[in-house]
Amino acid sequence: MNEAVFPEHFLWGGAVAANQAEGAWDVDGKGPAISDAIRNGIVGGSLDAEINESKYYASHEAIDFYHRYKEDIALFAEMGLKCFRTSIAWSRIFPNGDDAEPNEKGLQFYDNLFDELLKHGIEPVITISHFETPLHLVREYGGWVNRNLIAFFTKYCEIIFKRYRNKVKYWMTFNEINHMHTIPLAAGAIELKNEDTKLQDIYQASHNVFVANSLAVKMCHEIIPGSQIGCMLSLSIIYPNSCNPEDVFEAYELRRRSLFYSDVMMRGYYPNYIKRIWKENNISIHNEPGDFETIRNYTSDYVGFSYYRSTTHKAGMPIQGNTGGIMGLDNPYLEKTAWGWPIDPKGLRYVCNEIYDRYQKPLFIVENGYGGDDEFAQDGSIIDDDRISYLNKHLLELNEAIEDGCEIIGYTWWGPIDIVSAGTGEMKKRYGFIYVDKDNDGKGTLNRTRKKSFYWYKQVIATNGRALFESTI
Ligand code: BG6
Repeated sequence: MNEAVFPEHFLWGGAVAANQAEGAWDVDGKGPAISDAIRNGIVGGSLDAEINESKYYASHEAIDFYHRYKEDIALFAEMGLKCFRTSIAWSRIFPNGDDAEPNEKGLQFYDNLFDELLKHGIEPVITISHFETPLHLVREYGGWVNRNLIAFFTKYCEIIFKRYRNKVKYWMTFNEINHMHTIPLAAGAIELKNEDTKLQDIYQASHNVFVANSLAVKMCHEIIPGSQIGCMLSLSIIYPNSCNPEDVFEAYELRRRSLFYSDVMMRGYYPNYIKRIWKENNISIHNEPGDFETIRNYTSDYVGFSYYRSTTHKAGMPIQGNTGGIMGLDNPYLEKTAWGWPIDPKGLRYVCNEIYDRYQKPLFIVENGYGGDDEFAQDGSIIDDDRISYLNKHLLELNEAIEDGCEIIGYTWWGPIDIVSAGTGEMKKRYGFIYVDKDNDGKGTLNRTRKKSFYWYKQVIATNGRALFESTI
């Protein structure tokens, strides 16, 4: 392909999450979220017993988007973003998660934020829960293993759907819900303490999430006619390490462990393969009358997914989770980022085809990005050619996927502005087209600077992808 085939109203955008950008962690009535009690990133980190403010927690200030969103949105508009994905911090709306009444100041903040986006012609794309469950729901209820969370979540959904029904059309329920197995604290608000009950807890939490997801879909369609509400998975591809059938089948099973989540949420029923897994692991799922009908009747409208890289898996090797998917063996055909993530643009085309073939429902690439360290040149500019190269190669493959027949709603680059890394809690792992002056210890002016990639993405959007074919990087 040597021409751009992005549809006319393609949603070019950028994506962040509240806890990685907003800061203001205890301002205007916000309660603590799990992300506020972890110091070293959600992958390796665990919840502190108490939040100790003499220590550094990256999310507490993050990039202070809470107070600087107008300046940042003006920059997004200058880049030409058509949409912006962020999450609502659940604990801004319900500080403990189980409160009787919502926090008006929290609701007002998102009114202001969405108004500002809409003023600039930028469509908000909203994740309802992105690794930031109210801390109280973990401490008091044990997270999504507890069925009570369904009611708390649906109450939260009802409030935000009613409040923002005239402002937000695109929604997603749970960020990267398939991380339930590898990062259960982030995805399921579960502090796994007992290896013996690990799988039971994960599948019980998953069932509760499926019911909550379907109830949210039902409500969203009832309250906001014409809305689109998707599921969201981390879908970096998994390759077998060799053509040894053992490697091939184990890689397939691992992939299916992720696709289990979209299978249920897109098709509306539990697939047969899960029954064997439950039987062999003595898992029994508590359900209540009506659960399976709810799951069947209210399926997600689209598959939102993140894609950062591919992974290479060998049969029998231990599974190591990370934000971008599982970590695997070196793939000799691929280069890696400074954080060891293989760069695999073709994998994006593969995943789009894989998922579209499976469901024939629209796809939304809601995270794809390059985490690297940036340096200022002597003239004060930031020349981030590696990021531009990553972006271009992935978008060219996305263009191929569209030509392959995949229906794609849009593409939101992860971190159009530098934010805190979810995995490591670092600022140094930068994704942005806009640099934020802040280091890993929290020092810096928080000033924003446009990188070279800022101007490049602007060109790509302005030409609806045609500029990709003119790049020399
Ligand atoms: C995804 C998450 O897993 O990966 C984001 O949805 C996260 O929250 C992103 O930031 C990139 O991971 P990291 O660890 O580099 O921030």
